[in-house]
Amino acid sequence: MNIARRIENLPPYPFVEIINKINEKRAKGEEVITFAVGDPDIPTPPHILERLFEAAKDPANHRYPEAASLPELRQAIAEWYKKRFDVSLDSDTEVLPLIGAKEGIFHIAMCFIDPGDIALVPEPGYPVYPMSVIMTGGTPYYMPIIRENKFLPDLDSIPEDIANKAKFMWLNYPNNPTAAVADLDFFNKVVKFAKKYNLYVCHDAPYSEITYDGYRSVSFLQADGAREVGVEFHSLSKTYNMTGWRIGMAVGNAEIVGALNTVKSNIDSGIPQAIQYAAIEALTGPQDCVQQHNDIYQRRRDLVIDMLNNIGIEAEPPKASLYVWAKVPAGYTSVEFAYDLIEQVGVVVIPGTFFGKRGEGYVRMSLTLPDAALVKGLSRLSEWRDPKNKFRAKK
Ligand SMILES: Cc1ncc(COP(=O)(O)O)c(C=O)c1O
Repeated sequence: MNIARRIENLPPYPFVEIINKINEKRAKGEEVITFAVGDPDIPTPPHILERLFEAAKDPANHRYPEAASLPELRQAIAEWYKKRFDVSLDSDTEVLPLIGAKEGIFHIAMCFIDPGDIALVPEPGYPVYPMSVIMTGGTPYYMPIIRENKFLPDLDSIPEDIANKAKFMWLNYPNNPTAAVADLDFFNKVVKFAKKYNLYVCHDAPYSEITYDGYRSVSFLQADGAREVGVEFHSLSKTYNMTGWRIGMAVGNAEIVGALNTVKSNIDSGIPQAIQYAAIEALTGPQDCVQQHNDIYQRRRDLVIDMLNNIGIEAEPPKASLYVWAKVPAGYTSVEFAYDLIEQVGVVVIPGTFFGKRGEGYVRMSLTLPDAALVKGLSRLSEWRDPKNKFRAKK
């Protein structure tokens, strides 16, 4: 018996080794502080939970969801987009709720990719973009996103033959893992590029609301003609601390939304209805919780940046996202540095190369750990000493 090549040919899941190292430490009774995953530590706001509890008690919501999604939810998403970005969406044809953005991000590859097709994906980037392409028989073409170009892909450097062959492009701003942001000028260029080469665009924006210092992110759909070429993925996970409830959406081009709906209707039976009601409450209810969460993350961001800079590690304060993208000290690879931090001081960060080889030279630190753990983790970081003597941590 053989498992399909689709699975066997996948690159190894890099997180396994880090998880093993954490488990080894914990088995010895040592405390490990992790800046690894971008999973909000703050609970879902009470008004959203109230709606969820209430909806969970209603037997109508114990059965299969009525259709793929409640019309009221699609309407709430369309209204949120109008209010937040001044983007008008037809809630019947241009809005599709998802079981978390990740689910739609994976399945959209099935809408575009036939075996042998190419997709343009950012590197470093969220691993689901290339994995879904590989698993549907396509080949990712990695667009470097590097500091010298503000972590935006250089569209002009994509070879003509690749651009001509590519079926679609992934973008993600505010970005995971680099925390970079994009402006409307860039998205306008992307739309022109997509029209020139006849390819679709998927923009993934789960961090659009996690912003600092008064920065407001833009939507890809605000770009001229964006809706003719693409869709935007969004999520309630990070904005409303709802990672555990699994709800997100794809919005924009009706043809793409329709194709994704067709794929999904053959795979899942919708989002549990009580969670759909909670999402309606999140999107239409009071929004002050979003700023309150951002204030917490911003304070943590400043603590992390101060500590890193104090010990001589280069990192810029991000304008958005839940991450700090920090340079590893000279003389270390990302993996060596991350593993040494676990070994020496029991602090977990993610090596940049876990997001693709162009993540070399960086580690990603998440801001989603409680203040006390964060402060303890930073104090431990300051105790890290360079066993290779290639880099001097300052006191
Ligand atoms: C860039 C990016 N897209 C999508 C997701 C998944 O979001 P969701 O929880 O809605 O599946 C994540 C989660 O970390 C992410 O970082």
